[in-house]
Amino acid sequence: MSDYHVTAMLEEAVDMLACRPGKIIVDGTLGGSGHARRICEQIDPGGVLIGIDQDRDAIDQAHRVLPTEEPRTHIVHGNFVDLPLFLSQLGIDAVDGILIDIGLSLHQIEASGRGFSFNRDEPLDMRMDVRSDDTAADLVATMSERDLAQLFSRYGEERWAGRIARHLVKHRKTHPVTTSGQLARLVAEAVPAAAVRTQKIHPATRVFMALRIVVNRELEVLDRFLGTAVDLLNPGGRLCVLSFHSLEDRIVKHRFRAMESPCTCPPSFPQCVCGRQATVRLLTRKVFRATDAEIRKNPMARSTRLRAVEKL
Ligand SMILES: C[S@@+](CC[C@H](N)C(=O)[O-])C[C@H]1O[C@@H](n2cnc3c(N)ncnc32)[C@H](O)[C@@H]1O
Repeated sequence: MSDYHVTAMLEEAVDMLACRPGKIIVDGTLGGSGHARRICEQIDPGGVLIGIDQDRDAIDQAHRVLPTEEPRTHIVHGNFVDLPLFLSQLGIDAVDGILIDIGLSLHQIEASGRGFSFNRDEPLDMRMDVRSDDTAADLVATMSERDLAQLFSRYGEERWAGRIARHLVKHRKTHPVTTSGQLARLVAEAVPAAAVRTQKIHPATRVFMALRIVVNRELEVLDRFLGTAVDLLNPGGRLCVLSFHSLEDRIVKHRFRAMESPCTCPPSFPQCVCGRQATVRLLTRKVFRATDAEIRKNPMARSTRLRAVEKL
């Protein structure tokens, strides 16, 4: 186990990829490289790992902990949505497995200094890739009250979105909101005291999640990626997704179902006339979750969900 991240559902996710010696596998979210290291053990000898992360720190970690010779590893600093481009640059037409484990690493929350945690007072940045444009502070400074309220409600499912947005916009007229500590305090002030007392989570949890999702365009990227990922697999190749909240899981579930049963003919038609054929077999009819034993050791695994498909 590394200090960088505690890997969630390590066995389940890597088993689901069906790694074997000689296989070509993509880990689209290296993080602390926990999954990637296990994949490397299983594809050796003769395998190839393509490891991607949009966070420079994860790339540095991968160079520290992944094998340098066998199996062959290609470590790429970028967004997994650009996987088709990365593969063509490497001269690889198709791969045998793709894993993405989306969300934040422990390092990003605890040690990146980029304001991902409401428990720390750091610059309000929240970009996983610091080469990208807007920070969370930019959004809080420039969005209208209405748009902020919508953002908190849609991406954080925050009940007090309107009150929080109003309070932030009033406050920013005199004091720009530039740190995670300031934001956490302002959100806590806006939520009614009775609600704060009864909530099990910090009052700023949902607002932080919503901002992070939008800063990193997480849902849009996931949806676009799932639209093309299966085209990059060899027949029998597997695509596995670990997600952490219901908005992500909904996208994965719908995309996988649409690939498994793409027929759009009305149920009353005696036979299919649209001609759309399944491209995958669903490997997780019911979502897989972490075991109680794992959750006891790693409480962050509580919300992890694993879904997977196999290309026909
Ligand atoms: C939960 S961690 C992955 C942990 C990893 N599986 C392990 O075992 O250590 C998530 C990682 O995905 C990266 N990430 C999230 N979205 C990404 C994207 N669209 N493209 C590339 N990397 C992404 C984050 O920067 C973070 O390092």
